[in-house]
This record gives sequence, structure tokens and C-alpha cells, in this order.
Amino acid sequence: MLAGKRILLIIGGGIAAYKSLDLIRRLRERGASVSPVMTRAAAEFVTPLSVSALAGEEVHRDLFDLTKEAEMGHINLSRVADLVVVAPATADLMAKMAQGHADDLASTLLMATDTPVMIAPAMNVRMWDHPATQRNLATLQGDGVRIVGPNEGDMACGEFGPGRMAEPLEIVAAIEQALAAGPLRGKKILVTSGPTHEPIDPVRYIANRSSGAQGTAIANALRDLGAEVIFVTGLAEAARPQGVQVIEVESARDMRQAVMDNLPVAAGVFAAAVADWRVASASDSKIKKTKGGLPVLEFAENPDILAEVSQMTQGRPGLVVGFAAETDDVVENATSKRQRKGCDWIVANDVSPETGIMGGSENAVVLISEDGAEAWPRMGKDAVARELARKIAEALA
Ligand code: CTP
Repeated sequence: MLAGKRILLIIGGGIAAYKSLDLIRRLRERGASVSPVMTRAAAEFVTPLSVSALAGEEVHRDLFDLTKEAEMGHINLSRVADLVVVAPATADLMAKMAQGHADDLASTLLMATDTPVMIAPAMNVRMWDHPATQRNLATLQGDGVRIVGPNEGDMACGEFGPGRMAEPLEIVAAIEQALAAGPLRGKKILVTSGPTHEPIDPVRYIANRSSGAQGTAIANALRDLGAEVIFVTGLAEAARPQGVQVIEVESARDMRQAVMDNLPVAAGVFAAAVADWRVASASDSKIKKTKGGLPVLEFAENPDILAEVSQMTQGRPGLVVGFAAETDDVVENATSKRQRKGCDWIVANDVSPETGIMGGSENAVVLISEDGAEAWPRMGKDAVARELARKIAEALA
């Protein structure tokens, strides 16, 4: 399934490097060719001879190898691959990537490449949980780096928890998925997701119960069909999708700005639960209790991002999909919402508390388009996302 594909495999210096030998074997079994690169530390764990014997290619290790510069410079090396895979990705390599260091061959290749990058992190549990690593992880996810693993389990250092490198076959599956020629390949799609937070003062805000689960599932499903996804999310509970560009925002106005900054796109899916109103003049300092009575909040209307994008005369996405969270007369209200906002499709759902949909794992939706209303059976949010992604691919074909 990987026939004809070239993987640039960067092996970092961790005990999990021994698994990279098996990874090379598995990739080659499937027809891929592997150009191996080892960091200096990696050579302390596995020998370059084993790596090159399994890869059937020379190992690249030195940034300043003049012969190789003449034959195939490091820039070229980073670009001939279909995918760059870093396995194991140590805490140090992740930090270098997040910060944009280029002080050895591996980090320079990662800076110079214009091909997609996937990392398989492997490190001690505490190092994985460390805020610095989690910050770097978020940065890398935001840059569109795909992450596979780490898994939870017993570790070579004797501790237990997340930090174990994904197994070679899991990495192979992720590579196959990343290289699959999906119908949305080459298409940029923007997805908004999660709640917005509207500040009252520096410590208080108004928000809603959206978990971001449906928007996240949609981003994952679009990515699986090959789309280049830009995921603009409020401060949502759901884990961020992987292998997509993540932009974190707080308020409706921040979300609008992030959306506008990232147009044009082939399609926009507006799954965020955007607050309709914000506090007109949020206080810069904490509002204190006073004997003078209760504070009065005045509201101002937020920009309607979906309506604004739908009604753009220039640079409008080819397909604009909105959501409607209704509690009564779902189809009727959503149909008129589609017309009022000017979007192409509305995915309407009944969010009455008894449905358990808001914040739950299932959804029962009606897709409203020019052709009328199409009710889908109640199913998991992942299944709804896959069906919607399939329809989007059909519409953009
Ligand atoms: N939406 C948006 N910007 C807003 C409000 C909503 O982009 N300021 C988008 C949502 O992401 C969703 C759709 O509009 O795709 C429907 O939002 P909803 O709040 O249900 O619609 P409203 O216009 O607020 O209508 P109502 O409150 O009357 O139901």
C-alpha cells in the first residue's frame, strides 16, 4: 500500500529507537523506501550499521558532509520524501521543532522541509506531562504536524503512564492514512468549533455547554479524506484533532478574526457555538461586591461569522455549512436560518436537554439544503462527521 512512497525517517536518541528498526522493516515490506537520518544521540542506542542494513540505504548523520552536500544537499533530502517521520521524537527534538532550531542535520531537515511531518513521541512519563512538552506539543499540532501516540504502559525507565512510543504497526497505519489519496486531497477546509468565552471582567466570562466534540470529529473526518484542515476552536473540552492546523481563540470576535485571516478556503464548516452577545464593556478590573447593589450587565451583539462568510461577494468559500442548535420546530427554524444567513447547508440538531446531545457522544441531525431536509438516524458524533465529510467531498468534486 506504500509502494513507491519515500519516507524520510528521523531517528531520535531514546531507548525506543530499537523499535525504529522494526518500523523500517515494516515500511519496506509494504513497498516504501526509507531514507534514514540519525541524531548523534540515536547512535548511542542503535548502530548506524543496523539502520542502513535494514533500510538498504546509507544513514545520513552529518550536517556538514561536503560530499553529500555536493550530491544531495540537506534541503533536497528533506524534500524528495512524501512524508517526514520522526520516531522516536524525544522531548528535546520536539522542543527544537517547536522553537525552530536548526543546529544539526535532523532539526535542519525539519526546518527546511515542505512535506508533511509526523512524529511518534517517546519519553519518560514526567517528561511527557511536563508543561514545556505539552506546550511544544500544542505548538506542533498548531503547525499541522501529525502526532501518533504516545501510548500508556510500562516504560523502560520503570515508570508507568503515557510516554511509550506507538508500536511500529500503529505508526505504519498512521503513515498509510497520511499518504492515502483521499477525495479532499489538496483542498483547504476551515472548521470552527467549541464554545466562545465572552469576558465580563478579567476573571469571569459567559460561555455555553458546547464540548467541541462534533467540530473535532468533523475536523478529523475531513483530514482522513485528505483535506488540509484549519481548525479554529474556542476553549473546548474535547481533545484537539491531530494533523490539522489548530488555532485557539477565546471570544466570538477573536474567532471571526481567525476565520477572516484564513480565507480563502474551498469550504467552511461552522460548528462552533458562538455566543450571540457579549458584555458591551467588559471591565478591565475585577468587579467587586458593593453595598450599592447588583452589577448590571449590558450586552452588545457579536458578529455573526457564518452570515458574514456566507454573504461575502468576493472570496466566499465554495461551500458554506452552518449548524443550528434548536429546541423547538427544528426543521422549520433551521430552514429559515439557512435562508437568513445565506449558507448552503445547515446541519440542524435538537438540543433539548432530554436528547442528551449537547455535551453527549451522539447526534441526530437533519441536513437542510436547497434540495430540502434529509433526516439522518441518530448515531455517534464520529459517524455524523464521516457522513458529512463524505457529502462535502462529493459536493466539492
Ligand atoms: N454562528 C456564527 N456566529 C455567530 C453566531 C452563530 O458563526 N455570532 C454560527 C454557528 O457556528 C452555527 C450557526 O451560526 O453554525 C447557527 O448558530 P445559532 O446560534 O443557532 O443561530 P442564531 O443566528 O443565533 O439563531 P437563534 O439564536 O435565533 O437560534
